[in-house]
Amino acid sequence: MSRRDVLSYYGSELQGTTDLKTGACCSTEALSPQLQAIVQNIHPEILDRFYGCGSPIPDDLEGLTVLDLGCGSGRDVYLVSALVGETGRVIGVDMTPEQLEVGRRHQAEQARVLGHRVSNVSLRDGTFEDLAGLGIADASVDVVISNCALNLSGDKRRVFSEIHRVLKPGGELLFSDVFSSRRLPPHVATDPLLVGECLGGALYVEDFRRLMADVGWPDYRVLRQAPIAINHPYAELMVGPTTFWSLKIRAFKVEGLEDRCEDYGQVATYLGTIPGQPHGYQLDDHHSFITGKPMLVCGNTAAMVGTSRFARHFRVLGDRSTHFGAFDCGPAATQTHTEAVGACC
Ligand SMILES: C[S@@+](CC[C@H](N)C(=O)[O-])C[C@H]1O[C@@H](n2cnc3c(N)ncnc32)[C@H](O)[C@@H]1O
Repeated sequence: MSRRDVLSYYGSELQGTTDLKTGACCSTEALSPQLQAIVQNIHPEILDRFYGCGSPIPDDLEGLTVLDLGCGSGRDVYLVSALVGETGRVIGVDMTPEQLEVGRRHQAEQARVLGHRVSNVSLRDGTFEDLAGLGIADASVDVVISNCALNLSGDKRRVFSEIHRVLKPGGELLFSDVFSSRRLPPHVATDPLLVGECLGGALYVEDFRRLMADVGWPDYRVLRQAPIAINHPYAELMVGPTTFWSLKIRAFKVEGLEDRCEDYGQVATYLGTIPGQPHGYQLDDHHSFITGKPMLVCGNTAAMVGTSRFARHFRVLGDRSTHFGAFDCGPAATQTHTEAVGACC
């Protein structure tokens, strides 16, 4: 897909959320009361240019370094800026100058409104295929987020390799994006409107699984999935019988992940200590921990909660010394639902 098409779509074609033509870049995911309160403090001009398809805002961020890929005008950057606090920092990367200009124009004011003496935000002009070119070193970032942007990359393998490179051991990738039920034919994948609306570059879910395994993530988890209603006659005609979903995905950079869930008899207990989550914690769409209640988990889940940045919030018993067979871990990452929602806004 053409970089020029993307630049022109987000630089001049779209002036705000209401200019979107399909339901693909429209988040229907409700923000938590805490995030709703922070959004009240984000400038309307930034919010008017929000084109995300979800809310990939991680938990327990205080003091961390967070990287937002394809940050646009910066809604999520400023949400996270409030959550990491003065000791943390947020780096936003985008290649469209018009988007970055909006975020930068309000940077000093946002710091003041959020109560920071000095802004903890850095908005960088560049591509997320080349984070090294932006000076982002190996293992230097705690959390990578992205909202409806990675689908726009013409080299997704490179993007996910870069994400894996810059994450610290135990770090987390949390992103929302558009995925498809099949590989899209070239006339769809290159159509400027479909590309701009985050449909043409959507990843076929099974190719995404293969790509993730290749770059170091044989297991990742889906937190939320919602089918996308396109609501545009031309786009619907072009994509034919393809189903699109907005998926929220999390992947931890931890050792020992296997491509299938295996049973080593390990048990994990959530301690109730993640800020704002005293009663339980949802790791993914099929693991809801109840505070204090031990849960039998597969080796991969034990590694995710026991060796990631969340390790201090869980007690994990057991190791991999004895294998008991395959572990029935719940719904597959690509299982689909039927309720349709909009996809970038
Ligand atoms: C659908 S918008 C989402 C923006 C933002 N995440 C939000 O939620 O409002 C996609 C953004 O990704 C940026 N983008 C697309 N491809 C990019 C690339 N290869 N490198 C950096 N930014 C890119 C675009 O400039 C655009 O601002």
